[in-house]
Amino acid sequence: MRSVQLPGFAMAAGAIGFGCASLGSRVAPADGVRAMAEAHAAGVNWFDVAPAYGAGDAESILGTFARGRRDQLLICTKVGLAPPQRNALLKSAYAAARPLVGALKGLRKAFRRIPATRNVAVPLTPALLVESLERSLRRLGTDHVDVFALHKPVHADIARDDILQALSDLRRAGKVRHVGVAGDAHAAQLALAHPDVYTVLQLADDPVDQPLRRLQAAAAGRLSFITHSVLGVDGMRERLTQALHAGGAPAVRRLTDAGYAGNAEQTVSQLLVDRALAANAGGVVLMSMFSSKHRAANIARAEGKVRPDAIELVADLLADGGRAAR
Ligand SMILES: NC(=O)c1ccc[n+]([C@@H]2O[C@H](COP(=O)([O-])OP(=O)(O)OC[C@H]3O[C@@H](n4cnc5c(N)ncnc54)[C@H](OP(=O)(O)O)[C@@H]3O)[C@@H](O)[C@H]2O)c1
Repeated sequence: MRSVQLPGFAMAAGAIGFGCASLGSRVAPADGVRAMAEAHAAGVNWFDVAPAYGAGDAESILGTFARGRRDQLLICTKVGLAPPQRNALLKSAYAAARPLVGALKGLRKAFRRIPATRNVAVPLTPALLVESLERSLRRLGTDHVDVFALHKPVHADIARDDILQALSDLRRAGKVRHVGVAGDAHAAQLALAHPDVYTVLQLADDPVDQPLRRLQAAAAGRLSFITHSVLGVDGMRERLTQALHAGGAPAVRRLTDAGYAGNAEQTVSQLLVDRALAANAGGVVLMSMFSSKHRAANIARAEGKVRPDAIELVADLLADGGRAAR
């Protein structure tokens, strides 16, 4: 797989990183460990996790996988969101529903809409940062993380002196190699004002508004970008599939000429992954890829050449589809 050298990182990162949000909730622990091992064998070495992921179990499961391989992995964890409060009940519900939730998209969406499945924001204090990191390190079975990021922070917290100081202290102590902000585009924008502390910015890669482009220009190659929500911002995959249908034969021909083949859903997924890899060519693109089909498809895109033309293809398809719908 293509690898990227992020500024300040000793080890190169695979262009696609493994998103662990569903590890331990939708995805059973043993299946998750198997999927991560297969991805790692194919060149994936960036693993994105958080205390809240997998209803609170993702870090421990990632820790199981990392045993004996820690020095080959780059791990990003976060602070600021806790798993849902009625967690014991939720975990049994996840375990019971797994066979169905894995298979039925509608049921997965319904699960996410239930308030009891939502993570809970934890007010940030210097003490909380230290305690949360210590708990994460214990669960992950490691003495340091490569990135420690504020998870969907309240915007005002990003510039708080006590928070900046606590994060710098953790880095100086060697428990954290890089400090980041994992939130919305505005949070990333605010973090840019503190490049001495925040060197990793994680955000959704929205192909319409393209906040990443503006942030990359402002960062001028000094910061690392980690992007996610490649298929998903506001149902982007469905929108693009509709745009492809609306665009008719000329739209299909343009994609076929560009080498995209298969059914509409596969074509659109390939195109969006290529677009995300091209838009964040110097960074890491996070994907959930627990199913072997998705894993193979996404890794294959990261093994090919970067396709800057995918950025324009997506933009044109959306614009043409919008015009056809009017
Ligand atoms: N910082 C934040 O606030 C934040 C927010 C959201 C996400 N994230 C991180 O980003 C990671 C990815 O999250 P995401 O929301 O962007 O999810 P995603 O990668 O778009 O995955 C969403 C769903 O799409 C499926 N999928 C993956 N590749 C596919 C393909 N080629 N074709 C069709 N379906 C495919 C996945 O299935 P399978 O997994 O079953 O294969 C999953 O069910 C998370 O796990 C998390 O680590 C961070």
